[in-house]
Amino acid sequence: MFDLQPGPSPAGPLAQWKEIADLTKTVLESIAILAGSLALIKWLRERHDRATDVLLQLETRFQDPELQKGCRILEDETEYERTAPILEMAVRSDANLWPESPLSKKIDSAEDAPPVERFMRFLSLKTLPNAEASPAATLASLDKLLRFYVVMHGLRKARQVPDAALRTCYRYWLAHYFHPRRPVFRAYVDQFFPTLRNWLACEKRWYKRNPSRPFRFFRAADFWNTKQTYIYEQLRHATERRVLAIAGAGLSADSGIPTFRGKGGLWRGFDAKELATRAAFETHPERVWDFYRARRKAVLAHKPNQAHQALVTLAARVRNAKDFLLITQNVDHYEIDAGLPVERVVQIHGDILTTRCSNTACNYRKRETTVDWNDGDPPPKCPHCEQLLRPDVVWFDEEFRPGDKERVDAFLGAGRCDAVFVIGTSGTFDYIADWALMAVDTKGWLIEINPSPSDIGRFAHQIFRGKAGRVLPKLMNKLAKGEPHRKKNW
Ligand code: OAD
Repeated sequence: MFDLQPGPSPAGPLAQWKEIADLTKTVLESIAILAGSLALIKWLRERHDRATDVLLQLETRFQDPELQKGCRILEDETEYERTAPILEMAVRSDANLWPESPLSKKIDSAEDAPPVERFMRFLSLKTLPNAEASPAATLASLDKLLRFYVVMHGLRKARQVPDAALRTCYRYWLAHYFHPRRPVFRAYVDQFFPTLRNWLACEKRWYKRNPSRPFRFFRAADFWNTKQTYIYEQLRHATERRVLAIAGAGLSADSGIPTFRGKGGLWRGFDAKELATRAAFETHPERVWDFYRARRKAVLAHKPNQAHQALVTLAARVRNAKDFLLITQNVDHYEIDAGLPVERVVQIHGDILTTRCSNTACNYRKRETTVDWNDGDPPPKCPHCEQLLRPDVVWFDEEFRPGDKERVDAFLGAGRCDAVFVIGTSGTFDYIADWALMAVDTKGWLIEINPSPSDIGRFAHQIFRGKAGRVLPKLMNKLAKGEPHRKKNW
């Protein structure tokens, strides 16, 4: 029999060398691991030192009295109320007023610096609650705080300091960006600090993906009431007191009436100057009449929708009927057809179904209720004075109809509003934004209902992104039932 197992190898010099080589390898590997660990410990210690150093530097910067004033502005309700109009001015005006503000940089680089008059006009609308507060100084301190956060964001991105350490020390004031009662601050950051805006957008995305968990960098509950019922409780009370609603073409969109500027909007296919100005009417009245007859036909063919009905419900919520006003830019009369009392509605751009004489000395007017013309008919003439008749709308080159602006002024002059609803308007006209912001002042709730962002929405405390015909009735139901809405929109 043969033993097939290999026997012990004969000891010899070759085997000894192999053993020495193995031993050396093990020793070298151990040295390498030890050196690596020491290097890692050194690096971690240095990083810790660097982070401590950075944190100390941040802390020194943070103690700057001006920067601390910025913190107080956001923290203290009264301070914020004083500052909000200044921030609003900065966002809305394009004037180069404050050398230290980020605004001035924007203006310096703008070729066509916009006129200061526009700003002054806006300024005259606002009475600053604290006359001594210099807008320049206020903005300078807030800007300092925001620049501090920009630096901090850079450190976060560069991973110079562990997130946890930064969060513990500085997560505080910037969180007011998401505070439902700080929309003007949000608009200010959005406009002048795009780096922060992007950072905060990430926080918001995180919050949306993880609604049950706090923001990554902030803890929302530290700054405002995060209960889902909070907004609805507030709105329930506000809508019982003093309410202004401002409506635009979006309100009637769900009835089938086209809007002006969005997709399928009238001014996308037609030239407003050629069709909606007095100059156009004087040059080619037949073309203008064709346009308005087509629009009248559409208004007569459709009817008010659920959003109009919901406005009637909203008006009925207000305890004192006189404390409700709707300013509508729509000329279709649907709000009144739906049941709102005439005295509670200002049709600021007129009424398309009313015909009046173009001769200002003649007082002929008639309300159309049916289509009593044929396509291609010549422009109608006044049965009293033979002058051309015209639709009772406000054209782009005209003043408001007598009495309309006075009614708005009287309402706004009688006191600030607890809730201002801005429904389905792009807010193209400055006076619409002016009225909304004047009415809401610093204490009211500004609520926007619009499927797309608008200029006024930047200042809204609560935004409902959706069609008015769906959102407004739902909201009225919620307020009536006192139920919380499932989704939060800030
Ligand atoms: P625009 O056409 O400028 O804006 C319509 C707004 O309604 C947009 O912001 C849309 O996002 C929104 N919208 C669209 N569908 C909606 C829906 N179903 N529910 C809610 N919102 C919706 O119309 P206005 O802002 O009203 O003036 O335009 C103002 C004025 O410009 C008009 O009164 C008219 C026009 O030129 C004159 O003719 C003098």
